[in-house]
Amino acid sequence: MTVHPLDPLSQAELAQACTLFKELKGLGPDTRFGFVQLAEPDKKSVLAFKPGQPVTRCAAATLFDRKSGAAYNGVVDIGAKKIVSWVEQPTKTAPYGQPPVIIEEFFLVGDVVKKDPGWRAAVKRRGLTDADIERVQVDPFSAGYFDREVEKGRRLVSAVSYYREDLKDNGYAHPIEGVVALVDLNEGKVVELVDEAEVIPIPKRKRNYNRAAYPEPRTTVKPLDIVQPEGPSFKVDGWKVDWQNWSFRVGFTAREGLVLNQLAFKDGAKERPVIYRASVTEMVVPYADPTVNHFWKNAFDAGEYGLGKLANALELGCDCLGQIHYFDVPAADDSGQPILMKNAICMHEEDYGILWKHYEFRNETYEVRRSRRLVISFFATVGNYDYGFYWYLYQDGTIQLEAKLTGIIQTAAVAPGKPYPWGGMVSEGLGGPTHQHFFNVRLHMMVDGEKNTVTEHEFVPRPYGRDNPYGNVFDTTSRVLARERDAAREAEGRTGRYWKIQNPNVKNSVGNAPGYKLVINASPLMLAQEGSPIHKRAGFATKHVWVTQFDPAERYASGEFPNQHAGGDGLPKFIANNRNIENEDIVLWHTFGHTHVCKPEDFPIMPVEYAGFMLKPNGFFAENPAMDLPPDANPHSKDQRGDGCSCCAD
Ligand code: NI
Repeated sequence: MTVHPLDPLSQAELAQACTLFKELKGLGPDTRFGFVQLAEPDKKSVLAFKPGQPVTRCAAATLFDRKSGAAYNGVVDIGAKKIVSWVEQPTKTAPYGQPPVIIEEFFLVGDVVKKDPGWRAAVKRRGLTDADIERVQVDPFSAGYFDREVEKGRRLVSAVSYYREDLKDNGYAHPIEGVVALVDLNEGKVVELVDEAEVIPIPKRKRNYNRAAYPEPRTTVKPLDIVQPEGPSFKVDGWKVDWQNWSFRVGFTAREGLVLNQLAFKDGAKERPVIYRASVTEMVVPYADPTVNHFWKNAFDAGEYGLGKLANALELGCDCLGQIHYFDVPAADDSGQPILMKNAICMHEEDYGILWKHYEFRNETYEVRRSRRLVISFFATVGNYDYGFYWYLYQDGTIQLEAKLTGIIQTAAVAPGKPYPWGGMVSEGLGGPTHQHFFNVRLHMMVDGEKNTVTEHEFVPRPYGRDNPYGNVFDTTSRVLARERDAAREAEGRTGRYWKIQNPNVKNSVGNAPGYKLVINASPLMLAQEGSPIHKRAGFATKHVWVTQFDPAERYASGEFPNQHAGGDGLPKFIANNRNIENEDIVLWHTFGHTHVCKPEDFPIMPVEYAGFMLKPNGFFAENPAMDLPPDANPHSKDQRGDGCSCCAD
């Protein structure tokens, strides 16, 4: 099999890379790998690549020593057996920043906390026995940064705990309020324990969600099968996918999860690039409860844990429906051993209702075409929450990303008869703190070529005048975002503000620059106060749109090391130099999300909430690019009498 420069590293390459790091840098047995992934070659060489040519394969890793605490970002050339770059991360000096929390540490924290006499006394004061403690669920939560002496230079997590009568119980129904242990992961000990004087009883009502908890499922659901007798319409060659006019390469990293590379649309005989690389680079959840168990909660799920590392193995018939293609993803575990993440990425086609239609009653011309979309997705479980990331490609040239938010909310015990002022009650004695979810997608744009410009548009009513005698005219404004600091923008629903990514070096069928429009959804911005730790650490969530001149070092909206970082890194820092972004190699970053006020329907598992955006062709094509779709005649579609669906028949 020939290798493409953007192919994810194989298991063999990952193993070689981790061994090389250890050998060439003389690393000891306490070395742990936070992230290991392909070090992507520069765009120029990727674009110039011809199949069969030799490829230089390099691996990038974020690693650290569990004893000394030293942390590094390194790149190794696997073929040449040579370190390409090696940068120590200053974890002991401001602004700090640690590699992500690794899976081994998840398990370590429970042991450390349960051995701590102070913690044991605290939970016993809340009514638990030694036997109960065995079954307590301890959640290691990224500690954040609050400028306290105890945090500085340490590798930490904060541990919150949940009572379980049975190990199979849903612990989130039984939070142990008022007890938080700050754990030094390298020293393996509790360095600070919060044990509030007031004891709030642990809510005891079971709120399980497994099938045993719902022994009488509804009986009114009949089978719904997706049948594709001739197979799916996509073609897969290694990591390359062709589907109708679309083509792209699937990528995957430990930190971001799914990556779409070199997304292009075939327009006639011409392959037209749209995006060079697309991924979700961060996702953060700040909580709005000031009490001891919650004020510090603000997990950066990509940079502090790794969305790719925590990807689920998807099961056929459960997560996806129909003819599925799964991608197995090679990965490295915490110690640098290769593993295969089975079925980590799911790809399939979905019917999506009507794409276009017209009935001309004057001459009885009736044409309708159904829409179909290609779905490329993965799911990551980060502690209590589960996030799905679904990229959709449509036949009319539309690109969509939908984040699906589900799983279990963070919970707080509430004293009987007391109100819960920091969120919504979801069950007896159980509240859910109000919080926000922010995602940031990074789109290295390439509309019809490497140099693009972003323009901003608004609808503005035109005053009455000679050119508007009836008062019905309104204008669509247009301005170029020329510099990075002009391009940190907020949405404005009242004026319908929107953005286009255009290529000013090419003309479309009507003489304008071809482009794509960024269609954003109503989406919140950071509500925490300016100057607060989370505002500084997740600066990317203070604007909806950012545009930067491409720099290969600027990979993540929250910066390289968000875990315990004091703040100021990421997008606000990237735009500080105010580089030119007009007719440049540019990256468009979009922050979107959801403000979540908890309610009983969110429990025990919340139904999927959606967040996302679309990119729609805007002057990119000379006409509706889906006019050539064949009319459908689906023999499986019947009316209730068993007749064929006449409207869809030819
Ligand atoms: Ni939520």
